[in-house]
Amino acid sequence: MKKLCTSLVILLAAASMAFVGCNKKSSVSETSAAPAAGPTALIGLAMPETHVLRWQKDGVSLKAFAEAKGYRAEVAYGDADQSQQNRQVQGFLTQGAKLLIIGNVNDGVNSVVAEAARDKVAVIAYDRLIMGSADYDYYITFDNFKVGQFQGQGIETALNLKSATAASPKNITLFAGSPTDNNSKFFFDGAISVLNPYIKSGVLKVVGPYPETSADAANFTRIATENWQAPIAKTRMENLLSNDARAVTLDAVLAPNDTLARAIIEACLADAKYTGSGKLPVVTGQDAEFDSALSIKNGQQYMTVFKDTTKLAEAAIILADQILKGQTPNIPGASLASGSLTSIGDTGKKVVKAYLLEPVIVTKDNISVPVNAKFYTDAESAQLK
Ligand code: BGC
Repeated sequence: MKKLCTSLVILLAAASMAFVGCNKKSSVSETSAAPAAGPTALIGLAMPETHVLRWQKDGVSLKAFAEAKGYRAEVAYGDADQSQQNRQVQGFLTQGAKLLIIGNVNDGVNSVVAEAARDKVAVIAYDRLIMGSADYDYYITFDNFKVGQFQGQGIETALNLKSATAASPKNITLFAGSPTDNNSKFFFDGAISVLNPYIKSGVLKVVGPYPETSADAANFTRIATENWQAPIAKTRMENLLSNDARAVTLDAVLAPNDTLARAIIEACLADAKYTGSGKLPVVTGQDAEFDSALSIKNGQQYMTVFKDTTKLAEAAIILADQILKGQTPNIPGASLASGSLTSIGDTGKKVVKAYLLEPVIVTKDNISVPVNAKFYTDAESAQLK
């Protein structure tokens, strides 16, 4: 099934490539100026992993949009291994890439970002901020704090926390994403900002570790999931069910993305307490993966957050094109973070320009949103109707 989904994604992407390719001719003939770096300049696309489906799609969409603008583009997937990704990035530099779009695995990417800067090759941090580096200027992503807030609001609504009482509190357990992914902190802080008041007033009880924010490093590490690996989340959930959560019934699980949400649900379904209709805890997610959309439709996973990664890829290539042409970036559908949001681009060494796209909360009631955005294959969409 997984293989089939992957092939479908590739087919879909190939079709979208052909589609984007059709637009290419008209846009090329409309624009007389060739990119400063030459019309066939190479853009290197370094994606962190494939075990979370979105990155496969991101890679294919980025390549398609880059080629539609007349660039050569190559994608490499790092298999959640920073040394491997660094070798891939060095490969792009050796081939003379003029710009790199990097969704990094961890901060170990900094050495190759520094090499790129020495070669005067621009780097765009894609979806994940590259921390601790002053060697690049641009970041493009979704509003990740908002993604977390949506997860928190999903739980708030589903458990009707506004009317809950401390006399009969609800139980929740908390999971976070990879501790080496800067996004994980934003997701968690967004979600917990919604839940903290209920935890403080006693209407929501945390089973297991409770970091009040991601800054509580000791507890955050306890709930984090190394490299976003589903088996790690599943094992942690199984352990919780047979230890800390044994004497209670969980009403909700904060899960940071769909891949982990489904692993957590699997662990719950193996426990008699949660088997049978309506017995699962409310489980959150993110990415609007097809398997999770189906699970939402079937009443298992409660919600997800739709981040239209095709739009993110398109916006990143518009940004890349404008950088290569020496233009001031102006990206339709993405806004430059300003005011209090400026810190989203703070690497700890420098504040880079951060361009943000808007996520959308998705529950059973609006699965049509990603479907209508053509986020799935036709066959998948048909199953969600
Ligand atoms: C991305 C999520 C993704 C996660 C795991 C995060 O950086 O923003 O969309 O689910 O990585 O790959």
